[in-house]
Amino acid sequence: MNRTLLYAIVIAAGLFLAVAVPLALKGGAVPSTEDAAQRIAPVANFELQGATAVDAAASDVAAADVAASDESAATPAATESVAVPESPAVPAVKDGASVYASLCFTCHDYGVAGAPKKGDKAAWASRLAAGEEALYATALNGKGLMQPKGGNPALSDAEVKSAVDYLIASVR
Ligand code: HEC
Repeated sequence: MNRTLLYAIVIAAGLFLAVAVPLALKGGAVPSTEDAAQRIAPVANFELQGATAVDAAASDVAAADVAASDESAATPAATESVAVPESPAVPAVKDGASVYASLCFTCHDYGVAGAPKKGDKAAWASRLAAGEEALYATALNGKGLMQPKGGNPALSDAEVKSAVDYLIASVR
């Protein structure tokens, strides 16, 4: 097919010369090879470029497909290698004591809004009787003035539970 294209281009160039050169000569131009070369230069150059492109395509039809798929495979890899350093570090899980010290103490150290105080065994006795799972559920889902996760939804379930463990360890 590409050879056919080349032949077509060569034939077209031949036809052009066969028609255009005699016409130019008829027009009274001095018959010189330099003039002829100048006149056909734009067309000749264009056809030369076309032939070069066809040649490149002919020698590389299969390679082009491979290169295209290589390129598409390489692009995500490059993106990945850029994205990795940008990915945020996984936040460290806080232990119960530090979760309590960062939030829960504001109510549970002082009995704010009727919160059962840390270390107040009497206040916790009936709550402990309900079992740890019930206390976890309240701490996670909220109850009355006690908001879900103590009001900090950024805390993980595990962090809230360990804060509950820390809190009730003081009254056991
Ligand atoms: C804004 C004040 C406030 C903060 C902050 C708070 N609590 Fe509470 N908490 C309360 C109150 C008030 C209650 C009593 C709710 C009731 O029984 O109606 C309570 C009850 C509880 C109970 C007992 C639940 C039950 O079922 O009896 C647990 C356990 C608890 N809080 C854990 C926590 C933990 C863990 C945190 C921190 C993550 C926290 N609280 C932060 C006010 C607070």
